[in-house]
Amino acid sequence: MPKLLENQQCVWYPFATHQGLESQIDGWLSSVRARVRFGAQCPAEQRDLCVPLDEMRLVKDAQEQDTMRRAAQISAQAHIRAMKTSARMLRAGQDAREYHLEAELLHEFRQHGSQFPAYTSIVAAGANACVLHYRADTAPLRDGDLVLIDAGCELDGYASDITRTFPANGVFSGPQKDLYNLVLASQDAAVAATKAGARFTDPHDATVRVLSQGLLDLGLLQANKHGSVDDVIDKRAYFAFYMHRTSHWLGMDVHDCGSYIELSETGNTSTRQDPLSGETITNRPSRILHPGMVLTIEPGLYVRPSADVPEKFWNIGIRIEDDAIVTATGCELISRGVPVIASEIEALMRA
Ligand code: GLY
Ligand code: MN
Ligand code: MN
Repeated sequence: MPKLLENQQCVWYPFATHQGLESQIDGWLSSVRARVRFGAQCPAEQRDLCVPLDEMRLVKDAQEQDTMRRAAQISAQAHIRAMKTSARMLRAGQDAREYHLEAELLHEFRQHGSQFPAYTSIVAAGANACVLHYRADTAPLRDGDLVLIDAGCELDGYASDITRTFPANGVFSGPQKDLYNLVLASQDAAVAATKAGARFTDPHDATVRVLSQGLLDLGLLQANKHGSVDDVIDKRAYFAFYMHRTSHWLGMDVHDCGSYIELSETGNTSTRQDPLSGETITNRPSRILHPGMVLTIEPGLYVRPSADVPEKFWNIGIRIEDDAIVTATGCELISRGVPVIASEIEALMRA
């Protein structure tokens, strides 16, 4: 490395990503510096390789897209396997636990050549689904409860990231179905907003509008207290039930690198006051979507027990997550190998 660095103007490397790399580079540069009196020139500049590399990673070429389709297809099969296992174990009266479903997921991933899970699988039974970064633990899958699974495999260096929420016994209750269909409708709105030329935040805004209206319609938010759907959005009243973003980039990493703001418009700032925290927030225009960018679309609702909320909805946590490749006219959902419509999930679990 000192030989390669000698007489170069600039050394490029990823800043603050690999512990110890900076001191390794320092060592190489000091070897170059030791040769200065023999006429060697030491690089005068260091620059962050992440800046150009992250931009390159943001748009996936045809081969990368193909790998991501295959990864998503394996993960979809794994979700189907977990749904079927849950229904079968409950029908047989067996003691089904979260880890049993995790074992099925991992088996299916590896069976199809995936090298690793892309992240620690979440299998959350009942109220555990309201804990965002839960993992698969030992809780029983109870008849009448929902199960939320957020799991995806990594294949040949590329991640997939799918969430499905289904009834442990294969049949949604009325209140579960009401909330499920609301989350699905909000995902439909986000999918419709995902296309080249749109902003990264457009799917999130579409989701929030549908969820906010639904929370009013179903009585989780009261119009006499929270006002209209625009008030719910402006004051972020929906945040009690939906506290995360709708999307992130997906690629070699599950939360892939790449700027979420439009780099050509960074100077174009505005400020606003957050209605919940009171903090002043600087807005920069969000990224414009281009064909080949890949993002997740993952709305959810998480309902904690509260005197303001009808009891029939307590402890229900639902998320639906799919992986989308942006195209010129819309997006391609590459993770729909596992059903998402409530009646299709029920049919699959009956089979
Ligand atoms: N599984 C991580 C995420 O959905 O962002
Ligand atoms: Mn995700
Ligand atoms: Mn996920």
